[in-house]
Amino acid sequence: MSSRILIIGACGQIGTELTTRLREIYGAENVIASDINTRNLELVNSGPFEIIDAKNFNAIKDCCKNYNIDTVYLMAALLSATGEKYPMEAWDLNMNSLFHVLNLAKGSTIKKVYWPSSIAVFGPTTPRENTPQHTICEPTTVYGITKQVGERWCEYYHEKYGVDVRSLRYPGIISHKAMPGGGTTDYAVEIYHEAIKTGKYECFLSEQTSLPMMFMDDAINATIDLMRAPSENLSIRSSYNLSAITFTPEDIANSIKTEIPEFEISYQPDFRQAIADSWPSSIDDSVARNDWNWQHRYDLNAMTKVMLEELGKKYRDN
Ligand code: SER
Repeated sequence: MSSRILIIGACGQIGTELTTRLREIYGAENVIASDINTRNLELVNSGPFEIIDAKNFNAIKDCCKNYNIDTVYLMAALLSATGEKYPMEAWDLNMNSLFHVLNLAKGSTIKKVYWPSSIAVFGPTTPRENTPQHTICEPTTVYGITKQVGERWCEYYHEKYGVDVRSLRYPGIISHKAMPGGGTTDYAVEIYHEAIKTGKYECFLSEQTSLPMMFMDDAINATIDLMRAPSENLSIRSSYNLSAITFTPEDIANSIKTEIPEFEISYQPDFRQAIADSWPSSIDDSVARNDWNWQHRYDLNAMTKVMLEELGKKYRDN
């Protein structure tokens, strides 16, 4: 039987590309995109689209009923940097949207739920290198707290109510389609845009800040592979560690310089430095690799090539 999918927060950085890929796989008419506004006209025009505020239980419920939804991807969230500016809004959106979807999935026709977690669940007391799947999680950001608590609730709903909820702890995600919004890892996207537009970039993290990162194609593949994996293979129902590459702002600048030798970077760390310093620099994702054969494809230079090529076209065409 074919799947009927709802994506909440479809116009965001990950939602945009996830929706496009899911429409390719399952057919546009089976993938309902939703967001609080219609800012992404490509998505609005390429299949069913609904305006849904992720905090509105009835709006989600009605949409699931109207379209016979069996799978929900909940991608709406306030990220780490925005969460520090608006702590209560981050708590409200990130937690309530999750409860709405988990409660709807409990004993309903919704068979599967995807909910992203993040490296932000870790904190300064977590081992920084090769952070294990099971380890100390004492996050110091509001965003990290919402993701850590959310993971506990996902596992709880799976154990107590049999909800088939699946999750990944995304690292920083780099992409050239929709911009990320309000994250600490956003510099690794902005830098490519500025390299093309102005040939220089002032980075809000310091030169040696090493963080786990991933190219969007790998993140989308991981998400879809996890959702397609047989339920009995999954040993983790909180959220899987997921890793691809680790680099510093200096590394990414050097990678850009191999393509644009005159590129210049300067550093002006702001409040996001403390957030970055509280996160791991590399992640051990062997449990994901063993349970559902996760493998990444892009390293830093391969990603740089695609980013500069695609953004080059985008800015030339506009
Ligand atoms: N990219 C996110 C952030 O920086 C981490 O999940 O907030």
